[in-house]
Amino acid sequence: MSQTLVAPSVLAADFANLQRDVEMINESQADWFHIDIMDGVFVPNISFGMPVLRDIAKHAKKIIDVHLMIVEPDRYIKTFASLGADVLTVHYEACTHLHRTLQAIKAEGMKAGVALNPHTNVHLLEDTIQDIDLVCLMSVNPGFGGQSFIENTYQKVKDLREIIVEKGASTKIEIDGGVTNKNALQLKEAGADVLVAGSYVFKSEDPIQTIAGLKDLLA
Ligand code: DX5
Ligand code: ZN
Repeated sequence: MSQTLVAPSVLAADFANLQRDVEMINESQADWFHIDIMDGVFVPNISFGMPVLRDIAKHAKKIIDVHLMIVEPDRYIKTFASLGADVLTVHYEACTHLHRTLQAIKAEGMKAGVALNPHTNVHLLEDTIQDIDLVCLMSVNPGFGGQSFIENTYQKVKDLREIIVEKGASTKIEIDGGVTNKNALQLKEAGADVLVAGSYVFKSEDPIQTIAGLKDLLA
């Protein structure tokens, strides 16, 4: 099995020292940047938007994984491509024509991701899994960093892994919310490929070391 990737969530960074925190991720063993875009409609919070992403992308030297927690994501696919997103993830719950949205993301040269809220069943992706590069399983209700991990996620990872294998897809499974050194290994063993970690990384004393510790645990 390929290595498990770690994607620090910039939502937990210090926005007054954003370049410093972006450089920290560049220098660390982290694999991706995870960027949370919230519109205050799909989720009860507003994070940051295009100008901030543009400036992050200017300094980021790793894959930029953008998680859109917004309604009508189709309106912004081209914009996010031009801002430097490598992976663009939309929410299943925000897409009426998910298949069309996935094609539109890929047409802009990005990898296409679909995020599922904790209440959304993984089997709903059976008919689209071959078109999805990444499934982001929300292990908290989206909208805020620093929440506790929902234990039912392990079972969802296993069920989704089965679907991926059964359909011969090459989709990666990403876990987002409440990831720490306490659940990382169990998530990997259940079949996760990418672990997003916000507070666990940025609120720690030595984020570079915390990322290294996670990578060691997953090696
Ligand atoms: C939640 C966001 C997450 C969040 C994770 O809505 O999608 O990416 O930043 O933060 P932690 O790791 O603190 O739960
Ligand atoms: Zn996220």
